Amino acid sequence: MSFVTRRKSMEPPAAHDGHSLIPTLGWPHLVALGVGAIIGTGIYTLTGVAAGLAGPAVILSFAMAGAVCAFAALCYAEMSTMMPQAGSAYTYSYVGMGELAAWIVGWSLILEYTVVCSTVAVGWSGYAGGLMQQAGWSVPQALLAGPHAGGIINVPAIFITLVVSALLLVGTRESATVNFILVIVKIVALAAFVALTIPAFDAAHFEPFAPFGFGATMDADGVKRGVAAAAGIIFFAFYGFDAISTAAEETKNPGRDLTIGIIGSMFACTAIYMIVAAAALGASPFDVFSKSPEPLAYILRGLGHPQVAAVVAGAAVVALPTVIMVFMFGQSRIFFAMARDGLLPRRLSKVGARGVPAPVIILTGVVAATIAGFLPLDEIAALANAGTLLAFIATAIAMMLMRRRAPDLPRPFRTPLWWFVGPAAVAGCLYLFTTLPVSTLVNFLIWNAIGVVAYLAYGRVKSRLATA
Ligand code: ALA
Repeated sequence: MSFVTRRKSMEPPAAHDGHSLIPTLGWPHLVALGVGAIIGTGIYTLTGVAAGLAGPAVILSFAMAGAVCAFAALCYAEMSTMMPQAGSAYTYSYVGMGELAAWIVGWSLILEYTVVCSTVAVGWSGYAGGLMQQAGWSVPQALLAGPHAGGIINVPAIFITLVVSALLLVGTRESATVNFILVIVKIVALAAFVALTIPAFDAAHFEPFAPFGFGATMDADGVKRGVAAAAGIIFFAFYGFDAISTAAEETKNPGRDLTIGIIGSMFACTAIYMIVAAAALGASPFDVFSKSPEPLAYILRGLGHPQVAAVVAGAAVVALPTVIMVFMFGQSRIFFAMARDGLLPRRLSKVGARGVPAPVIILTGVVAATIAGFLPLDEIAALANAGTLLAFIATAIAMMLMRRRAPDLPRPFRTPLWWFVGPAAVAGCLYLFTTLPVSTLVNFLIWNAIGVVAYLAYGRVKSRLATA
């Protein structure tokens, strides 16, 4: 069979030394993992960037991105419970579409997971910098932002990426406990934000509602603006539920736990976001807070609550790293699955004595830190979005193909109205893809061109399906 079409069976390959994962997680862990991965730089920082692109109508951008993610989450719930394996969209594509498609999806996931870590680190740095200023520390701007944002190097962003990598090297159990506590901190901080901004709600801030229109139109300065363009960026805020599916092999009761984890965390976060976004817009004109690197704290300071602003910024500083943590965890599982299939060198997926895949974590940490140190937030968020959109499209297509090819296979979770939800997920993701900046699409193509060359040189020959 040609390497393009050879497909994996649904059974996970047999474990071999140092390459097995142990089921220890229940649904509460998965919901915490999901919320830990979803609530992050998207709501805390990109709300400002997106509001700058859409005006008050950014609330519709939230709804649009949320709807696309809800369709995708249903497809993920079906696929991950049907084949609870570590590789997430990569594995579903391998079983559904064949090796070349799986490689491209896996390669895009590697980009997504790395760049998400960088993006969150840059968002973290915005809040850390604001907090340092409020505390009276004078740190030169040159060290707080990369060259595109008026600085030279973003030292805090590099620092936090390396700290989280070091924490993960200590062990997964320790990391899961820290994650759980920090998820609560993040939610409490958003609740405090909403409680203090609601009394200042002014409907006049919603006029004019959509100053840049509803599509994604290129400005004279080459920036795409409008509700859809903002949806393409704020999409970043919603994903993370997909990272849960990478923990499938470590889940005790995948059928129930993954469904609750994926759908539960996705819907809970969407509700939280709509409330926070509406509260932010009601409390401050969008063009005022959209330029701040720490919009939520900025709004609170503007309303005369400097202490609570410091608490919210403090919560962001303490808790945003959970997103980096979960995505690094996910990255290690994607590498693990791809290496187990022979498409990446096995050394990379080696799990050490403490259950930690150290090579992947160190590699991801160093690359993510370097990107975070020099590149601007919106650009890297858009690149992460491109990788994620491809993974969502692949999962929806794999779900539909498997429904046709194997309609009677046991499915612990069945996507309702799959013939509608699947195509809607694909169409929604394709549309959001077109709203991304042109430079993002070019960089994404370059990344995948490199990937295809790497595959032809290595994975095509070393694949377990080629050597079995
Ligand atoms: N959804 C995650 C965030 O907003 C990636 O940080």
